Amino acid sequence: MSAHIPSLPLSNGASIPQIGLGTSPLTDSEVTDAIVLAVEAGYRHIDTAVKYGNEKGVGEGIRRSGISRDELFLTTKLDGAYQGADRAIQGLDESLERLGVDHVDLLLIHWPLPQRDEFISTWKTFEKLHEQGKATSIGVSNFKPAHLDRLLAEATVPPVINQIQLSPQIVREEQRAYGAAHGILTEAWSPISAGDDLLSAPVLATIGERYGKTPAQVVLRWHVQLGNVAIPKSTNRDRLAQNIDVFDFELTESDMADIATLSKGPDAGVDSDVSGH
Ligand code: A2P
Repeated sequence: MSAHIPSLPLSNGASIPQIGLGTSPLTDSEVTDAIVLAVEAGYRHIDTAVKYGNEKGVGEGIRRSGISRDELFLTTKLDGAYQGADRAIQGLDESLERLGVDHVDLLLIHWPLPQRDEFISTWKTFEKLHEQGKATSIGVSNFKPAHLDRLLAEATVPPVINQIQLSPQIVREEQRAYGAAHGILTEAWSPISAGDDLLSAPVLATIGERYGKTPAQVVLRWHVQLGNVAIPKSTNRDRLAQNIDVFDFELTESDMADIATLSKGPDAGVDSDVSGH
């Protein structure tokens, strides 16, 4: 039996399933298998990027899963190779070709790369792609409030989402508050902070025991209650199922406060003023 994942509204009237499948750093064949398992489990939202080099495998997974295109929310991102006036036109055409689809549900600028100073011209091209229907919604990734200030001042079509590195250790309060104030949904990449010490934090085990949930489920529920979209990655059938089984319990205010003690401070995580691709 597959689980139902609720959706959140986007400012343009579309909606996005609150939990999706992250696909970095899966190869083509790994991602194909993961998507087949994920769709079977109930996932209806897949997140990829040109830079991940796995869009062909994503397309193959979608086809093999048997899901119809209109039941699936598909995101891709264009990196710095496609920033600058009109470069995104070719970038998205190539992505659509690899994915084997005629549109994506969400197209993101992968990194602001402020030193290049091309995200405004890139956004103008994104607006054209949106108008043509090749990207139903458009948004950004790894943007800080200062980048968004500039973008919003120039944009005709506002970004619906800002996808950022976000977890109980990297809380990004300023970015989340900015998004909430401007109708930009916050989406978390690395939502369970793989490779870190997050999931072994005793506080998550203690809270999880009360609800019969794992530390990863507690963290994903924390995202859900903050109103974030989250895209945990897994290739494992059980963990894929676990990561969407977070809609049948509720963390208390005191649980949320205990989880907040895991924060590594306002400067934790990647700094997109100096990093990105
Ligand atoms: P695996 O694919 O073997 O499940 P993130 O998306 O935050 O970067 O985290 C992805 C990592 O976390 C992957 O290494 C994945 O490994 C692991 N992972 C995914 N779901 C769970 C889970 N429920 N519990 C523990 N580890 C998980």
